[in-house]
Amino acid sequence: MSADVAVELMTEDQARTELARLSKIMLAANTDYYTAEPKLIDADYDALKARNTEIETRFPALKRSDSPSDVVGAVPAAGFGKITHAMRMLSLSNAFDDSDVEDFDISIRKFLGTHTALRYTAEPKIDGLSLSIRYENGALVYAATRGDGETGENVTENARTISDIPHLIPNAPDILEVRGEVYMSHADFAALNARHSERGGKIFSNPRNAAAGSLRQLDADITRARPLKFFAYAWGELSQPLADTQMGAINALKSFGFSINPLTKLCANPQELVEHYHHIEKQRATLGYDIDGVVYKVDDLAMQARLGFRSTTPRWAIAHKFPAELAWTRLEAIDIQVGRTGALSPVARLTPVTVGGVVVSNATLHNQDYIEGRDSKGEEIRGGKDIRIGDWVQVYRAGDVIPKIADVDIDKRNGNETVFSFPTTCPECGSDAIREEGDAVHRCSGGMICPAQAIEKLKHFVSRGAFDIDGFGAKQVEQFYNDGWIKEPADIFKLEELYGSGLQQLKNRDGWGPKSAQKVFDAINVSRNVDLARMIFGLGIRHVGDSSAALLALNYGSWDKFEAAMTEAAIGESAIWDDLLSIDGVGAVMAKSLVTAFHQESERASIDRLAEQLTIIDAKQPANDSPVTGKVVVFSGTLEKMSRAEAKAKAESLGAKVSGSVSAKTDILIAGPGAGSKAKKAADLGILTLDEDGWLDLIAPK
Ligand code: IVH
Repeated sequence: MSADVAVELMTEDQARTELARLSKIMLAANTDYYTAEPKLIDADYDALKARNTEIETRFPALKRSDSPSDVVGAVPAAGFGKITHAMRMLSLSNAFDDSDVEDFDISIRKFLGTHTALRYTAEPKIDGLSLSIRYENGALVYAATRGDGETGENVTENARTISDIPHLIPNAPDILEVRGEVYMSHADFAALNARHSERGGKIFSNPRNAAAGSLRQLDADITRARPLKFFAYAWGELSQPLADTQMGAINALKSFGFSINPLTKLCANPQELVEHYHHIEKQRATLGYDIDGVVYKVDDLAMQARLGFRSTTPRWAIAHKFPAELAWTRLEAIDIQVGRTGALSPVARLTPVTVGGVVVSNATLHNQDYIEGRDSKGEEIRGGKDIRIGDWVQVYRAGDVIPKIADVDIDKRNGNETVFSFPTTCPECGSDAIREEGDAVHRCSGGMICPAQAIEKLKHFVSRGAFDIDGFGAKQVEQFYNDGWIKEPADIFKLEELYGSGLQQLKNRDGWGPKSAQKVFDAINVSRNVDLARMIFGLGIRHVGDSSAALLALNYGSWDKFEAAMTEAAIGESAIWDDLLSIDGVGAVMAKSLVTAFHQESERASIDRLAEQLTIIDAKQPANDSPVTGKVVVFSGTLEKMSRAEAKAKAESLGAKVSGSVSAKTDILIAGPGAGSKAKKAADLGILTLDEDGWLDLIAPK
């Protein structure tokens, strides 16, 4: 096959066929790219593009009219279809030391209101990428990557090439979703890189990237040639339970033909978890595949169900991470980046150094105090040592976060180091950079006139948790902003009208053709219909993250109500302000930031211009068949049958809004012994008051 032939050995016919194949793959790459994990595809795309150029250089006459080398800045893309997961794919919260594990156990027992020891499973945390595989009536129907947890990429054909994944499971439940990790062994990774280095293919920096690049190949034959493996450790939708316990369910997955990790162990208490952690840690180097910690899960599945989830992580599991890897290098310079809220973030530029298989050349320095050797409370960090340009610093990576600096070696100083003086003006727009009393951060006061803030705000607006416009990511934001075509989010929705036809045509611009231009306009139009939560998050208001946006959406229900409340709320002194603060999960800092954004003239005008372009969809109440859906409930006094945390989680899962204080908006007060003044206030306001049994009776499945 011409795909396997080295360019210098190709015949003309083979070159023609190969150019056709490459152009098909690369041009098919659609702009889905930005919703996936782009770097990996970038790298693979670059390898294909290099091969294409090499052939064209050898056979100039064969260059195609649709040659990918003519597409400037084209976005390589996965070209995979999307699959919405039947049940969300979650991530895990982290523990870093033994005391975090103890706290995990204590908080679980507190939530469940039990004093007896609980059993947990402990198993390696595989450093790969998660996959969900769906079987219907025993046959594999599709496999999808995690994506943003709600929607992933359809990689069914590629998953079928993995030998650990059965295609048929005769004794499976009618609906079975198996979840686990795709990974590449050290041996296969080394062999793949050796093959590529001979043929001039892409060299992967670590097995995880190699596994991800291989699974997300458009051509399943390429995936087949790269040996991937799979460990099953969880499940999604099921037509019937697999077992009563986590361990039982894992054994059921094994009986279906999946590989389960041999180091999975049932432990009787948290001490045994930590022992097993150290046992696994000792074998880490000789396991033959990468792991980055140990995952603990409550064994009893009925308890798992009671514990439920926070916004993106289960309460019943935690990942106990291995200590971060460290390396020493020189700090060459300190740059200042300006974020979407105007925060000036100092970034250390480092002499590149490998830390745990990844080359690191930047590390965050947080803020002025951090550089000077103090934390946010003014207490010494690193023994009070400051960080200077030219210093030797120790960097570490913990998880996927930006590398950080653990220490500085002042014995290595030779007098040529420079103390960094923190700027008092914004390096991007020259406006004053102000550090307010009690704040650790210098902030640019330029607002939207600051190009860095404007661009970061736009990037946030199109990001995954916000408007998530297909084919319109960070790259396009920069391109259009620099061209002067967009200045604020509302402008994105005017692009087609202003630049879709006539003289200023998008399709005549670098990297755009008629099809790609139309595709992006279509995607923009699709995103005009936006959920309320995404809209609120997309505004990029300081302190309002995606889960807070979801909470606000749920509480206000519609854009009109939300916008009216933010407009009318007077900070600190109105009933509307009190309502906002009574939302469990909204604190004074977030509330102030929200109300300020709606009262700041230019920001408000920009929000209004945006809203005009959109149809904002009301928030869905999560469970519309529950008797407490949409009701505002307040718990007060002692609960005896379950902890306050469990009661709150249960109420929210049924669609109720839990508030911390009684007001005219309250629908139900659940008053246990000692409810005191809240019970009196509820009685005065004529609010339905139930005791714990009355509440449990109300919400019991009928
Ligand atoms: S359980 C609902 N078990 O770690 C919880 N995850 O940081 C589902 N991972 O997205 C995850 N090994 O990709 C679980 N033994 C293991 C794991 C594991 C690796 C990954 C998984 C998850 C990520 C969270």
